[in-house]
Amino acid sequence: MVDPSVTGPRPRRVALAALGLVAVAGAGCSQDAPSALDPKGPAAERIESVWWLMLGIAVAVFVVVGGLIVASTMRGRGTDDGRPSRITANQWILVGGVAVPAVILAGLAVPTITTTADLTEDQPGALRIEVEGYKWWWEVRYPDSEVVTANEIHVPVGQPIELELTTADVIHSFWVPQLAGKVDMVPGQPNTLRFTAEEAGTYRGACAEYCGVQHARMAMLVVADPPATFERWMDDRQGPAPEPPNELASEGEDIFMRSSCAGCHAVAGTSARGQEGPDLTDFGSRQTLGAATVENTRGNLGGWIADAQSLKPGNLMPPISVTPDELLALIEYLENLK
Ligand code: CUA
Repeated sequence: MVDPSVTGPRPRRVALAALGLVAVAGAGCSQDAPSALDPKGPAAERIESVWWLMLGIAVAVFVVVGGLIVASTMRGRGTDDGRPSRITANQWILVGGVAVPAVILAGLAVPTITTTADLTEDQPGALRIEVEGYKWWWEVRYPDSEVVTANEIHVPVGQPIELELTTADVIHSFWVPQLAGKVDMVPGQPNTLRFTAEEAGTYRGACAEYCGVQHARMAMLVVADPPATFERWMDDRQGPAPEPPNELASEGEDIFMRSSCAGCHAVAGTSARGQEGPDLTDFGSRQTLGAATVENTRGNLGGWIADAQSLKPGNLMPPISVTPDELLALIEYLENLK
């Protein structure tokens, strides 16, 4: 026998299904979620206008097809006076199912192709930045100044940016919806993404291609600074990391260098040259840790060092066994790398 509470009366099931759909759709919306419909640069604006055009055409098609379905159910077969319709079924299929869609799709191809071509065009005076995807974080290199950082990409407002996108392992996809379209990072196939940020601000981006258990926590920030602020940011990162400013920090540096930390992470100007994990030379100035998994606070950093697996299961960082005093020293050292 069928349990009536599971099947339920039909309207209730329909309402439950509708609620479920709304919940799933709504889960993607939050105040912090970046939207491609809130563009902050010309590339994203172009993509937005194609999006609206496609929505407009889709709505028009929906209304026409929906109207025809309603008309056909009300009218029944043949005409009002009982004679067969002058338009045959085959004619409906040829016109409505082949000719009209062909015209619409060909028409849509024009703005799509021209937009894609314009967005991939070389921009004179562009700043080149290399971004390499790792499971599950982003390495960021500024080849002209040898600055290396991670998970936070600083760019100057108003200057064209040219990102060279590569991957160290599987396919990832780089997507900052408010600035540009998404571009895949494919093994052995460097891709280029061009955009200009027109407004200072912090724009959240994410990996847009499923790449393993922590795909959802492979996010990054693009920070668009006014040009003078960007210059200062770049100057601050030239050369070695700053010296520890106090005794506790310098104790932390010793622990860092003699423990497994230095085997996996690099800090410019020190003996730490590990390549497995993110470069930590300017770690203290970053807003987040674990590729925007959590805010970069002392508490979160302590938790991350002691047991990164509890915050982001499956990442490469093993638990580090240190005494509480050693942990405080490590935190002091890392938070002062800025
Ligand atoms: Cu990287 Cu998904």
